[in-house]
Amino acid sequence: MSELLGIDVGGTGIKAAMVDSLKGEFITEKIKYPTPQPSTPDNVSEVLNQLVDDFGYRGKKIGCGFPSIIKDNVVHSASNIDDSWIGVDLGAYFQENVGSEVVVVNDADAAGVAEMQFGKGRGQSGTVLMLTLGTGIGSGLFRDGILVPNTELGHLTYKDSIWERYASNGARKKKHLSWKAWGKMLNKYINHVHFLFSPDLIILGGGVSKKYEIFEEYIDLTDIVTPAEMQNNAGIIGAAMMAL
Ligand code: BGC
Repeated sequence: MSELLGIDVGGTGIKAAMVDSLKGEFITEKIKYPTPQPSTPDNVSEVLNQLVDDFGYRGKKIGCGFPSIIKDNVVHSASNIDDSWIGVDLGAYFQENVGSEVVVVNDADAAGVAEMQFGKGRGQSGTVLMLTLGTGIGSGLFRDGILVPNTELGHLTYKDSIWERYASNGARKKKHLSWKAWGKMLNKYINHVHFLFSPDLIILGGGVSKKYEIFEEYIDLTDIVTPAEMQNNAGIIGAAMMAL
């Protein structure tokens, strides 16, 4: 059965839709709730339970993108989610608290998988970098279509902090940056990761990818940078694909 519930847990919102994982498309409308604050396991599970009820999907397999380093379903970092998640085995935790088998992967890896198969990365060999610009910056790195998981390129250090605190869409909003100021900052970040990895293609995801034409003029590498085809839906679709 290729129809699965895909969930994308983000620092600001939790989004879900039923996905046809073989076609890489939504088969229902998307439902979105704000990420509860604090975003503790109990509070987030409550939202997941609500989504399972909304879609009448209890007891069936779910694919979930999560904004952390995830190895074998276990959370290893918490930048935009409550620290109490660290060390939690999400498979076991959601089985107990949501009553479903939940396959959990890093959110940017999930978005990249969807874009590689059904979006802008389709048929692209060489090195492809998916960068999701949301509350933080997530990265999905692919070599000849194969994912190198958990790359965390939003956490490269910059000044006294990390790049996602300067170039994410969250930073743009928090610091009330103009499109020009943010676009130039993002450009600097993209040039930096380009220097490190020499990607053949860089796909920009996250909600702000819809607005690419507003900040494209500040980007130098427009020949290899492109907004995601699935925009902010890639994470939901990829999570369902990876669960399948
Ligand atoms: C997290 C990543 C995540 C990204 C986007 C970062 O802060 O460390 O794991 O992919 O945010 O949500």
